[in-house]
Amino acid sequence: MLHQADGPLESARYPVLPAMTLAEFCSEIGAVLAGVPDRAAPALAARYLPGLLASPALLSAAQRQPPARGYGRHCVFACPRERFSVVAMVWPTGFTSPIHDHATWCAFGVYEGEIEERRYLPASDDPDDSRAVETDRLVHRAGTATHLPADASNIHAMHNPGDRPTISVHVYGGDSNKLGPNLKQVWSVEA
Ligand SMILES: [Fe+2]
Repeated sequence: MLHQADGPLESARYPVLPAMTLAEFCSEIGAVLAGVPDRAAPALAARYLPGLLASPALLSAAQRQPPARGYGRHCVFACPRERFSVVAMVWPTGFTSPIHDHATWCAFGVYEGEIEERRYLPASDDPDDSRAVETDRLVHRAGTATHLPADASNIHAMHNPGDRPTISVHVYGGDSNKLGPNLKQVWSVEA
Protein backbone atom coordinates (compact mmCIF):
# COMPACT_ATOMS: atom_id res chain seq x y z
CA MET A 1 0.00 0.00 0.00
CA LEU A 2 1.36 3.42 -0.95
CA HIS A 3 0.89 6.11 1.69
CA GLN A 4 1.37 9.83 1.27
CA ALA A 5 3.42 10.52 4.39
CA ASP A 6 2.88 14.25 4.13
CA GLY A 7 -0.83 13.63 4.57
CA PRO A 8 -2.71 12.60 7.68
CA LEU A 9 -0.60 9.47 8.25
CA GLU A 10 2.49 11.28 9.56
CA SER A 11 2.65 15.01 9.48
CA ALA A 12 -0.80 16.16 10.50
CA ARG A 13 0.13 15.49 14.12
CA TYR A 14 3.05 17.85 13.97
CA PRO A 15 2.63 21.57 14.54
CA VAL A 16 3.92 23.86 11.82
CA LEU A 17 7.30 25.06 13.05
CA PRO A 18 9.20 28.15 11.95
CA ALA A 19 12.50 27.60 10.19
CA MET A 20 15.29 26.72 12.62
CA THR A 21 19.00 27.05 12.03
CA LEU A 22 21.14 23.96 12.60
CA ALA A 23 22.40 25.48 15.86
CA GLU A 24 18.86 26.18 17.05
CA PHE A 25 17.66 22.70 16.11
CA CYS A 26 20.57 20.94 17.80
CA SER A 27 20.22 23.04 20.95
CA GLU A 28 16.48 22.35 21.07
CA ILE A 29 16.82 18.64 20.38
CA GLY A 30 19.69 18.33 22.85
CA ALA A 31 17.45 19.75 25.57
CA VAL A 32 14.42 17.71 24.53
CA LEU A 33 16.35 14.43 24.48
CA ALA A 34 18.06 14.95 27.84
CA GLY A 35 16.86 12.23 30.18
CA VAL A 36 14.61 10.70 27.52
CA PRO A 37 14.99 6.96 26.85
CA ASP A 38 16.16 5.97 23.38
CA ARG A 39 12.82 4.42 22.53
CA ALA A 40 11.19 7.88 22.70
CA ALA A 41 13.97 9.77 20.91
CA PRO A 42 13.18 9.22 17.20
CA ALA A 43 9.58 10.40 17.46
CA LEU A 44 10.71 13.54 19.27
CA ALA A 45 13.40 14.21 16.66
CA ALA A 46 10.86 13.77 13.84
CA ARG A 47 8.54 16.24 15.54
CA TYR A 48 11.19 18.96 15.40
CA LEU A 49 12.76 18.08 12.04
CA PRO A 50 10.34 20.12 9.85
CA GLY A 51 11.76 23.28 11.41
CA LEU A 52 15.25 22.31 10.27
CA LEU A 53 13.97 21.22 6.85
CA ALA A 54 12.69 24.79 6.36
CA SER A 55 16.17 26.24 6.93
CA PRO A 56 17.40 27.52 3.53
CA ALA A 57 21.06 27.75 4.59
CA LEU A 58 21.41 24.27 6.08
CA LEU A 59 23.80 22.88 3.45
CA SER A 60 26.63 24.22 1.33
CA ALA A 61 26.54 23.99 -2.46
CA ALA A 62 29.08 21.15 -2.29
CA GLN A 63 26.94 19.22 0.20
CA ARG A 64 23.97 19.42 -2.16
CA GLN A 65 25.77 17.82 -5.08
CA PRO A 66 25.07 14.15 -5.85
CA PRO A 67 28.26 12.06 -5.94
CA ALA A 68 29.54 10.34 -9.09
CA ARG A 69 28.64 6.97 -7.53
CA GLY A 70 26.38 5.85 -4.73
CA TYR A 71 24.75 8.44 -2.48
CA GLY A 72 26.17 11.49 -0.72
CA ARG A 73 26.53 11.51 3.06
CA HIS A 74 27.50 14.53 5.15
CA CYS A 75 27.54 14.61 8.94
CA VAL A 76 26.60 18.24 9.59
CA PHE A 77 26.41 18.01 13.39
CA ALA A 78 27.52 15.54 16.06
CA CYS A 79 26.39 16.21 19.61
CA PRO A 80 29.45 16.67 21.88
CA ARG A 81 27.85 14.26 24.35
CA GLU A 82 27.42 11.67 21.54
CA ARG A 83 23.65 11.69 22.08
CA PHE A 84 22.69 12.31 18.45
CA SER A 85 23.96 13.38 15.04
CA VAL A 86 22.47 15.18 12.06
CA VAL A 87 23.40 13.71 8.68
CA ALA A 88 22.41 15.03 5.25
CA MET A 89 22.15 12.55 2.39
CA VAL A 90 21.94 13.18 -1.35
CA TRP A 91 20.12 10.56 -3.42
CA PRO A 92 20.71 10.71 -7.20
CA THR A 93 17.77 10.36 -9.57
CA GLY A 94 16.46 6.81 -9.52
CA PHE A 95 18.79 5.66 -6.74
CA THR A 96 17.60 2.83 -4.47
CA SER A 97 19.42 1.95 -1.27
CA PRO A 98 19.97 -1.62 -0.11
CA ILE A 99 17.33 -2.95 2.27
CA HIS A 100 18.89 -2.27 5.64
CA ASP A 101 18.31 -1.67 9.32
CA HIS A 102 20.03 0.59 11.79
CA ALA A 103 22.37 0.18 14.73
CA THR A 104 20.97 3.26 16.52
CA TRP A 105 17.65 5.10 16.45
CA CYS A 106 16.69 7.09 13.34
CA ALA A 107 14.40 9.91 12.30
CA PHE A 108 14.55 11.54 8.90
CA GLY A 109 12.88 14.14 6.72
CA VAL A 110 13.07 15.38 3.14
CA TYR A 111 14.86 18.66 2.52
CA GLU A 112 14.50 18.73 -1.28
CA GLY A 113 12.75 16.37 -3.69
CA GLU A 114 10.93 13.22 -2.71
CA ILE A 115 11.66 9.83 -1.12
CA GLU A 116 9.77 6.61 -1.60
CA GLU A 117 10.43 4.45 1.44
CA ARG A 118 9.67 0.76 1.71
CA ARG A 119 9.43 -0.84 5.14
CA TYR A 120 9.94 -4.50 5.97
CA LEU A 121 9.79 -7.06 8.74
CA PRO A 122 12.08 -10.08 9.17
CA ALA A 123 10.77 -13.10 7.27
CA SER A 124 11.35 -15.35 10.28
CA ASP A 125 12.54 -15.42 13.89
CA ASP A 126 15.81 -17.09 12.85
CA PRO A 127 18.65 -14.61 13.65
CA ASP A 128 20.65 -16.05 10.72
CA ASP A 129 17.81 -15.43 8.25
CA SER A 130 18.42 -12.15 6.40
CA ARG A 131 15.26 -12.31 4.31
CA ALA A 132 12.64 -9.61 4.82
CA VAL A 133 9.01 -9.15 3.87
CA GLU A 134 7.73 -5.80 2.60
CA THR A 135 4.98 -4.36 4.79
CA ASP A 136 4.46 -0.80 3.61
CA ARG A 137 5.40 1.94 1.14
CA LEU A 138 5.50 5.59 2.10
CA VAL A 139 6.04 8.70 0.00
CA HIS A 140 7.82 11.53 1.81
CA ARG A 141 7.77 14.96 0.24
CA ALA A 142 9.92 18.00 0.98
CA GLY A 143 9.33 19.43 4.44
CA THR A 144 7.93 16.26 5.99
CA ALA A 145 9.56 13.96 8.55
CA THR A 146 9.10 10.47 9.91
CA HIS A 147 10.93 8.04 12.16
CA LEU A 148 11.72 4.37 12.60
CA PRO A 149 11.05 2.46 15.83
CA ALA A 150 13.94 2.42 18.27
CA ASP A 151 12.90 -0.70 20.14
CA ALA A 152 11.66 -2.92 17.31
CA SER A 153 12.59 -4.02 13.81
CA ASN A 154 13.46 -0.99 11.67
CA ILE A 155 14.20 -2.45 8.25
CA HIS A 156 13.65 -0.17 5.28
CA ALA A 157 14.96 1.03 1.90
CA MET A 158 15.09 4.49 0.37
CA HIS A 159 14.37 5.33 -3.26
CA ASN A 160 14.41 8.59 -5.19
CA PRO A 161 11.61 8.29 -7.77
CA GLY A 162 12.03 11.83 -9.07
CA ASP A 163 13.90 13.41 -11.99
CA ARG A 164 16.29 15.42 -9.78
CA PRO A 165 18.44 14.60 -6.75
CA THR A 166 16.69 14.26 -3.41
CA ILE A 167 18.23 15.55 -0.20
CA SER A 168 17.16 14.03 3.11
CA VAL A 169 18.19 14.96 6.64
CA HIS A 170 18.59 12.20 9.22
CA VAL A 171 18.87 12.39 12.98
CA TYR A 172 20.62 9.33 14.39
CA GLY A 173 21.37 8.23 17.92
CA GLY A 174 25.11 8.43 18.72
CA ASP A 175 28.04 10.13 17.04
CA SER A 176 27.87 9.43 13.30
CA ASN A 177 31.48 10.59 12.84
CA LYS A 178 32.56 7.69 15.05
CA LEU A 179 29.88 5.18 14.07
CA GLY A 180 30.05 5.72 10.29
CA PRO A 181 27.03 4.77 8.17
CA ASN A 182 24.20 3.71 10.48
CA LEU A 183 23.94 0.25 9.00
CA LYS A 184 23.30 -2.85 11.09
CA GLN A 185 22.58 -5.41 8.39
CA VAL A 186 21.64 -5.69 4.71
CA TRP A 187 18.53 -7.71 4.02
CA SER A 188 17.09 -9.38 0.94
CA VAL A 189 13.46 -9.68 -0.10
CA GLU A 190 11.91 -13.03 0.69
CA ALA A 191 11.76 -15.13 -2.48
FE1 LIG B 1 17.98 3.86 6.69
